[in-house]
Amino acid sequence: MKAIVQDKYGPPDEVLHLREIDKPVVGDDEVLVHVHAASVHPDVWHVVTGWPYVLRLMGAGLRKPKNPVPGTDVAGIVESVGKNVTQFQPYDEVFGECVRGHQWTNGGAYAEYVSAPEEALALKPANITFEQAAAVPTSGLIALWNFRNGELVEPGQKVLINGAAGGVGTIAVQLAKAFGAEVSGVDSTEKMEMVRTLGADHVIDYTQEDFIQRGERYDLIFDVASNLSLSACKGAIMPKGTYVLIGHDHFGEATGRIFGSLPRVLKLVVMSPFVSQLPQPNFSMPSRKDTMAILREFLENGKITPVIDRTFPLSEVPEAIRYLKEGHPQGKVVIALEHNTKA
Ligand SMILES: NC(=O)c1ccc[n+]([C@@H]2O[C@H](COP(=O)([O-])OP(=O)(O)OC[C@H]3O[C@@H](n4cnc5c(N)ncnc54)[C@H](OP(=O)(O)O)[C@@H]3O)[C@@H](O)[C@H]2O)c1
Repeated sequence: MKAIVQDKYGPPDEVLHLREIDKPVVGDDEVLVHVHAASVHPDVWHVVTGWPYVLRLMGAGLRKPKNPVPGTDVAGIVESVGKNVTQFQPYDEVFGECVRGHQWTNGGAYAEYVSAPEEALALKPANITFEQAAAVPTSGLIALWNFRNGELVEPGQKVLINGAAGGVGTIAVQLAKAFGAEVSGVDSTEKMEMVRTLGADHVIDYTQEDFIQRGERYDLIFDVASNLSLSACKGAIMPKGTYVLIGHDHFGEATGRIFGSLPRVLKLVVMSPFVSQLPQPNFSMPSRKDTMAILREFLENGKITPVIDRTFPLSEVPEAIRYLKEGHPQGKVVIALEHNTKA
């Protein structure tokens, strides 16, 4: 099969190559998916470049990636299933992640076939395309988990999404609306209109205005862009409000080479039992399976509409990653495989 392969860490333009490799062998609890679309997000850049170093110790591979094929998000048609798989069968249209655990590892999505864990997939809703479905899994899981599957938002509350027009932000705005919040979306000038069409009640252009100076207070500040901090936001959060840090390190520009944004995220986790404006630690993370099922339902009933900025063919994955980093996309960058675009 054709796949994008990396033999070492480094700049996407230098280390990624389109090659013929063997089709993956499906594990007992895995599903072999004929890939129709995949998508790109900042963690893909992290694993391709091996930046920050700590991800190499966290399972991505010490000297080179353990899995040479990048990409974590996939949508396609089931080719075959492992012997323990009960939810899916050949010809099912599915979408989901092809990684287990965290997203700082290659999942193999940028290929004609990928073997994905059953628990990270869901049936693709019939009302969306493969490209739209592939745009959702990682961003949707990050958004939903950080809203604690809805527990952090009550109807009528004021929620501010900082970085509202990116992969996570476009889904977070729509989820917050679906949970009944009054939503403010912060992003750059040219993205204001799109954020409004997602349902945001208020839009704020970060290039023109610092929302913290407005004197408004929010029940939840959802910091996807991660340029804020709890102390900087104090005056803009209600006394019983919450600050959530997603941990975007702006492709290595905002954080260190060794640990990236990990120390910031871990510091807030350690502080959380003592600071009421942080998400409290007494929460058991819902399974991928349950969260994918919730995302599927939101897609099916039109509460989430995936936003795709641009689509690239498999051979242009390096360009797609460069466009994510430098092109200021609105929503997601998607990889469409040729058999899908011809269909
Ligand atoms: N916490 C978790 O559970 C978890 C798990 C996995 C991954 N992550 C992290 O989540 C992040 C994913 O983010 P994403 O896919 O949404 O990224 P993205 O697509 O790059 O979106 C970021 C958005 O923020 C905007 N922005 C930049 N600077 C801003 C500022 N100062 N104020 C407001 N908005 C600003 C960007 O616009 P411009 O075009 O103007 O730059 C862009 O629209 C990754 O960094 C990943 O590592 C978190």
